[in-house]
Amino acid sequence: MLFKTLGLTALLSACAQATLQIVPGATWTATNTGKHVQAHGAGIIKVGSTFYMIGEDKTDGSAFQNINCYSSTNLVEWTYVGALLSRTASGDLGPNRVVERPKVIFNQSTGKYVLYLHIDSSDYGEAKVGVATGDSVCGKYNYLGSWRPLGFQSRDQGLFQDTDGKAYLLTEDRANGLRINALTADYLNTTGTSSVYLWNRSIESPAILKQGGYYFMFGSLLTGWDPNDNVYSYATSLSGPWSAWQNFAPAGSKTFTSQTTYILPLSSTTAIYMGDRWVSTNLMRSTYVWLPLTISGTSVTMSDRVNWTPNVSAVLANGAVVISCTGCSGGSAAGYIGGSSGGSVTFSNVRADVTGRTTIRVKHLNGNTVQRFADVTVNGVTQRVAFLPTQDGNTPGSSVVHANLNAGIANTIVVRITDGSYGPDVDRLMIPLS
Ligand SMILES: *[C@@H]1O[C@H](CO)[C@@H](O)[C@H](O)[C@H]1NC(C)=O
Ligand SMILES: *[C@@H]1O[C@H](CO)[C@@H](O)[C@H](O)[C@H]1NC(C)=O
Ligand SMILES: *[C@@H]1O[C@H](CO)[C@@H](O)[C@H](O)[C@H]1NC(C)=O
Ligand SMILES: *[C@@H]1O[C@H](CO)[C@@H](O)[C@H](O)[C@H]1NC(C)=O
Repeated sequence: MLFKTLGLTALLSACAQATLQIVPGATWTATNTGKHVQAHGAGIIKVGSTFYMIGEDKTDGSAFQNINCYSSTNLVEWTYVGALLSRTASGDLGPNRVVERPKVIFNQSTGKYVLYLHIDSSDYGEAKVGVATGDSVCGKYNYLGSWRPLGFQSRDQGLFQDTDGKAYLLTEDRANGLRINALTADYLNTTGTSSVYLWNRSIESPAILKQGGYYFMFGSLLTGWDPNDNVYSYATSLSGPWSAWQNFAPAGSKTFTSQTTYILPLSSTTAIYMGDRWVSTNLMRSTYVWLPLTISGTSVTMSDRVNWTPNVSAVLANGAVVISCTGCSGGSAAGYIGGSSGGSVTFSNVRADVTGRTTIRVKHLNGNTVQRFADVTVNGVTQRVAFLPTQDGNTPGSSVVHANLNAGIANTIVVRITDGSYGPDVDRLMIPLS
């Protein structure tokens, strides 16, 4: 018997979204505006199973118009949701202002989405950072003001939220170099009297990825709107020591004619490079160059693709997280299913060959000596399923679920438990092929 497997890493699903592809450098028409997506210099924030892309509206050139927000569940089809901030009559967000590189993180305790921006005059003389907060990710934000963090110039900026909940401003200080500055607990300002780290080197468009025990800082050299060979540096601590800068795309490719804007982790072992291919003479024509990164230890590389499949189909929510599991497909599984927050994993666009009652295998781990339970919902129909203890922490067992699937990819399978107990760690689903 042949099976299609939907694992958590290579992500999940060759089969699941074979037809949806990222095409770097193409026109990306939003699903509901009929126009090219205007979210340049963007960042991504994921809320539940939805990705939100928040970037600059360049419809009418470089001066500030709007900070736009688009949503997608597959990273390919983007729907315009609204503007977080729009031009005001005067002030930081007034006419002829520079408002760039919006990045949003969420503070669980305050319940606020926190947006950081590069705020400047049209001659780039102010060199400040600005902050705004929102109660919903894509709603209207309340602009709080701008300042020079720790008194230094701040041009291109990014944010990094660490796994311990602490957050950092990544900021280009033209006089001294690239800085990592700690933010206050509520994320609304920088804190301390000096930077967590300062590279005495001119690097802009900063973005940090944390993966496999390392922090990777990505950024570009300073060549204005023109592309250059972007670089990365790595460290095991944000305060360093950081490695020398090195290329991650082939030398001379100018990062496939793009500039870093964000690095999106997709699983414990994969991440997407997101860059802007700026067209300085008509900025609304700028396109999005998104490519998968290959990360092995401290080595990061990227090759060009005409098109590729991001394989976003297993989505973790409510506290479920990717855990490592050497015996699992792709070396990882969905952990913390259940618990007090009701962690869940959702597999979307699951491909089946025939319509009808089908036996699905849920490969899982259960480190207890007693069986665990989870509610498995297949196309809206829920059943309680038992998961026997597995022999060791790394060899998945199989639980079988009998459910109705639709031929094609119109199938959604959710594994969760909401009674406070923990369900199994889910490695992958296996769907029979006829
Ligand atoms: C998506 O899945 C296909 C098929 O397994 C694989 O070739 C490809 O590398 C995957 N993409 C990523 C970004 O992992
Ligand atoms: C959010 O803000 C609170 C209150 O200032 C702080 O204690 C907490 O660490 C912050 N971070 C997260 C992830 O909630
Ligand atoms: C952040 O702190 C600086 C220095 O104390 C201050 O000038 C600035 O107004 C603060 N920013 C906000 C938004 O409160
Ligand atoms: C930074 O580098 C420049 C040029 O390499 C050097 O002149 C300067 O002293 C350095 N500054 C610091 C603070 O190390």
